[in-house]
Formats: sequence, C-alpha cells, structure tokens
Amino acid sequence: MAPWPLLQQRLERQVVRIKALVLSGGKGTRLRPITHTSAKQLVPIANKPILFYGLEAIREAGIVDVGIIVGETAKEIESAVGDGSSFGLKVSFIHQEEPLGLAHAVKIAADYIGKEPFVMYLGDNLIMGGITDFVAEFQKNKPNAQILLARVDNPSEFGVAELAGGTVVRLEEKPENPRSNLALVGVYMFDAEIFEAVDGIKPSARNELEITDAIQRLIDTGKEVRAHEVTGWWKDTGKLDDILEANRMILETISRDIAGTVDSASRVDGNVVIAEGAEVQGSVLRGPLVVGRGCRIVKSYIGPFTSIYHDVTIQNSEIEHSIVLENSRISNLGSRMEKSLIGKDVEITKSATMPKAFRFMVGDASRIEVP
Ligand code: G1P
Repeated sequence: MAPWPLLQQRLERQVVRIKALVLSGGKGTRLRPITHTSAKQLVPIANKPILFYGLEAIREAGIVDVGIIVGETAKEIESAVGDGSSFGLKVSFIHQEEPLGLAHAVKIAADYIGKEPFVMYLGDNLIMGGITDFVAEFQKNKPNAQILLARVDNPSEFGVAELAGGTVVRLEEKPENPRSNLALVGVYMFDAEIFEAVDGIKPSARNELEITDAIQRLIDTGKEVRAHEVTGWWKDTGKLDDILEANRMILETISRDIAGTVDSASRVDGNVVIAEGAEVQGSVLRGPLVVGRGCRIVKSYIGPFTSIYHDVTIQNSEIEHSIVLENSRISNLGSRMEKSLIGKDVEITKSATMPKAFRFMVGDASRIEVP
C-alpha cells in the first residue's frame, strides 16, 4: 500500500477542484439610504457582514478558490474580504464595470472559471443549512446545471420555476402571474455549458442579462437542469424586512458570551453577546442580542433580536428588533424604537429646545415612521 501522504495526494487529484463565483456588485436600490454609502452585502447580520456567511458556507463545502464579482462598491468589499485567507479561501476579484445582470457576471468570469464546474452564490443570500449537500449532490449527479428552489409567499419578486414530475420545465424572472410558488434561491451550480447559454440570451425588460433566462436556454437546448428544494431557512436580504428577519434567525442561534463590563445595576437575560470593551450601565438587556466592542449602553432597555455594531452609544432609550451600525448615538428617545435599521454615524435624540417638534436631517431615500 502506498504511504499515507502519497495516498492523500492521489485522492486529492481525483477531487474536481470546484471554484465559486460570488456576486457582490449591484446597487442595492431596495436598501437605500444604507446603500448610498456602503455595499448591501456588508450590512452586518448579528454583527457579521452578510457576505461572510456565504464565504463561510462555501469554505465548509470544501471549496477554496473564490472569484468575487465587484462593482461600484469594489473598494469596500475588497478591504473587508482581503485575500480571503482569514476564511481559508483564495479570493480573486473580478470587476464588473456596470451591473448588467447575473448572466453578464458569468460571462466576464469565464477566464477565471475555465472549463470546470462551479458554484455561483449571490452575496446577499443567506442559507441557514449551508451549501455542502447541494455541492455534493451536483458532484454526484453531474447535470449541466443544478438550481436551488424554495417555497415563498411572494414568488413574483423572484425567478420562478415550474416543475413537471420533478423536472424543471420552465423558469421565469419576476413573473406577474407566477406559475408556482417555487423561487430560485441565489445559489446555482453550472458546468461549462452555461457560457454558451449566456451568449445566447438577450437583455430583459430591466436591461439585464438574467441568469434565469440562461438556465431556460439550457433547458431549451436539451441540457440537464436539476432542481433541489431547500427545506431549511433561506433569505435574499435585499430589503429591510428581510434583513431584520435574517438578523432574528441568526440571533436565535447565538450563545451567551459576556466579555464586556456590566454593572450591578444592570440585568442581562438570555443569549446575549457583549463584546470586549463594551460597557453596560443601569440597563436591561433581554436576548437574543449582540452588542459590539466599544459600545456604551446606559439606562436603556435593549430587547430581543437586536444587533448593535461597534462603538454605538445608547442612553435613556428602548430598542428592540433592530440593527444599529457603528458609531451611531441614540439618546432620550421618548418611545420604544423597533424594526429599524440605523446606519453609521447617525444621531437620534430628543430635542432640547422649544417648540416640541420633529427635527430631521435625513439622507435621500430614507424612511421614517412616527407614532
Ligand atoms: C436574483 C435573481 C432571481 C432570484 C434572486 C434570489 O434576483 O434574478 O431569479 O430568485 O436573485 O435572491 P435580484 O436579487 O437580482 O432581484
């Protein structure tokens, strides 16, 4: 028998080296004003950027080589991910000059991908169960494409699949009258046939080359497209409600870990994470929730499903089911704040001067609801 290292080398050679293509461009119009200044894929969910969950799932599936498609927010994504070594990945960045669609992203990644099969992962998608089983199934069956489907209540906001006897017969991008409630999840697996398919399609009504149309083309030209239904939890985090829901789901999985300081006048119940250097004084924290490093929570109530990022100050206020980004300051709120996403460096406070009125300085495409 061959000695162990040799045997291992032989085994490794047999494994097809699948690459991943992660899409992290796009304008994030449905998340304005947050996306005026930052990439939607970097919004933290339970204090970790959305994109990082995807990169971790890819690594867990045994994939090492990752090409990340970047657009306008390239600088920010590149500095957050670096060379990928902190995830155990080898990351290359591929620039998409304009957001011309998911199939266009595949086109410009052709040189990076080469001839081997690959997984395409949309950087704003979160799949609780990871993608390991999905990748293994693809490697076992070797179809030309494998798609992931999930049942949703609002199919016309997604690509929608129609199945007949378990076979995919038709795909439509955001149809007005969806033929099923099976949405295309933003994780796909392809072999090299996809490159011909993307060359054969035309831009859609929103002027994008749709990956949905490219997969339909595979079907029309007699290629094998397999579907795999996700039964676990999945979210496309393109909108505020979905981000808050993703935050809730991830926070439900955290364990209590208090590294920061909590004074004796405070109460901390349940699964609460308080990062090092954070201070809690005279407050009630009811988990699940996370508080980032350098935060100060004073005489406040922080309720379930709240993620407070680094260096935030909260005083004399009540907050729950919300995400607050770094360096923001919230004080003396008269009512409880809930279901909110507060950007970086935001200040919300009670006005000190008469008349008793709302005073706003709010960026473009912001949204404020008052009681
Ligand atoms: C894209 C795809 C759509 C898919 C969705 C999943 O939509 O075009 O088919 O269902 O991702 O996240 P977009 O986010 O570009 O609107």
